Amino acid sequence: MKSLLFLSGYALITYLPSSIAYPGMKDSLSDLHRAANVPRADAKQLIGDLKTLKDTQLTTIGKDIKAIILGTKDARSNTIDTSVPPGTVDSAACKADLCCVWKWISYEMTARFNGTSGRCTKLARGAVRLGFHDAAVWSNTTTYGGADGSILLTDEISRSDNNGLSAIGDQMKTWYNKYHQYGVSMADLIQMGANIATVVCPLGPRIRSFVGRKDNAKAGPTALIPDVADSADKIIKLFAAKTIDVHDLVALVGAHTTSQQHFVDTSRDGDPQDSTPGVWDVAFYGQTTGSPPPRVLKFASDVKLSQDTRAKTEWQQFIGAQSHWNEDYAKAYTRLSLLGVNNINDLKECTQVLPPERTAFVNEDQVVLDMWLQGQFNQLNNMVDDAIMLTGIITTNP
Ligand code: HEM
Ligand SMILES: *[C@@H]1O[C@H](CO)[C@@H](O)[C@H](O)[C@H]1NC(C)=O
Ligand SMILES: *[C@@H]1O[C@H](CO)[C@@H](O)[C@H](O)[C@H]1NC(C)=O
Repeated sequence: MKSLLFLSGYALITYLPSSIAYPGMKDSLSDLHRAANVPRADAKQLIGDLKTLKDTQLTTIGKDIKAIILGTKDARSNTIDTSVPPGTVDSAACKADLCCVWKWISYEMTARFNGTSGRCTKLARGAVRLGFHDAAVWSNTTTYGGADGSILLTDEISRSDNNGLSAIGDQMKTWYNKYHQYGVSMADLIQMGANIATVVCPLGPRIRSFVGRKDNAKAGPTALIPDVADSADKIIKLFAAKTIDVHDLVALVGAHTTSQQHFVDTSRDGDPQDSTPGVWDVAFYGQTTGSPPPRVLKFASDVKLSQDTRAKTEWQQFIGAQSHWNEDYAKAYTRLSLLGVNNINDLKECTQVLPPERTAFVNEDQVVLDMWLQGQFNQLNNMVDDAIMLTGIITTNP
């Protein structure tokens, strides 16, 4: 849908806002197509303690997580607790309620992740990527690593894989230093951060959020994070060894819908991976295979993946299909966020602390955004990064 609009250049300024306002318009068509033509990928693999526990041994949450990662249960939830926490974080009432500390953390994270333009901020996008980079340092041949907080508890963060993550890393350490005394692990803080960031991004799914992961102060194994120059085959194999199949991989890279790169091409610092950075829409899929405006910088790895015969069909199906993608992303991310976790059956749920999802978004600064996308206003890059409304900037930077 959107890539068609981009082909006729003049239509950009006029029509983009309304296209953003209709998430999921192609969904019913896509669902039909999916049911008719596409056999589901190979059976999903179990992970962690779920591999050995019998169904009769599973807790309610253990059962739910098993069903989510096997693909039979939705990973999203609108269960929300709008009441104020029972007390300040160090009160007895708060300490008696497992999710109370997470409610305070959610308030703090939401304030840093929600931009004044209504887009999610650079810190939010960093939090999503940080969640990926902590959890993905695991494979079926490693005996440690995964969603264990090690990216920030060790010097993992200084590996070149993690270029661009220092600001969110520092912020996460500040939160950890404040909340660790209330029983919060770094591993949970990072994954809760990713889920809060995702739902703060307009159109992002509200992913069920579990806590109780254990930290590991040992740096994870190397060579497990994909590189932008990798072939599709290499990336597919790398994720397969993490139990993430091609379908889930295609859903996960859609996170680049929010992204603005800094290190892939340093001469184009701040250039986005689709025309709507900071918005959790599906424009990324169509624009990676299509002809987006000049400022959009496609990652070579995304282009290769979109063309690979194993990935192509699913890639095409996410184009214009917001709720299909949100559903699949939520399941795939739940799996990713539990790699290396061997006490899944003992986790607890604090989904209710997440802010509500936002199912519509209109770019109020569309006219200026379009000029930026066409290559004007280079100096605005970092301001777009911080998701400050462009119309506000143009008056102070004529
Ligand atoms: C499949 C292979 C992947 C490769 C090769 C890759 C590579 C990259 C690169 C090179 C950047 C730009 C970093 C910079 O220059 O600042 C980036 C950004 C990002 N990636 Fe990925 N990525 C992959 C998968 C994923 C997955 C699975 C997720 C999340 C589930 C993810 C989430 C993000 C996010 C949110 C950003 C934006 C960060 C920002 O705007 O500051 N990526 N990725
Ligand atoms: C984020 O900001 C937008 C626009 O300013 C607002 O509508 C939305 O409610 C905020 N979200 C949260 C969770 O506070
Ligand atoms: C790890 O995953 C890869 C890719 O799915 C598979 O070929 C390999 O047999 C697995 N190894 C183990 C030890 O499970």
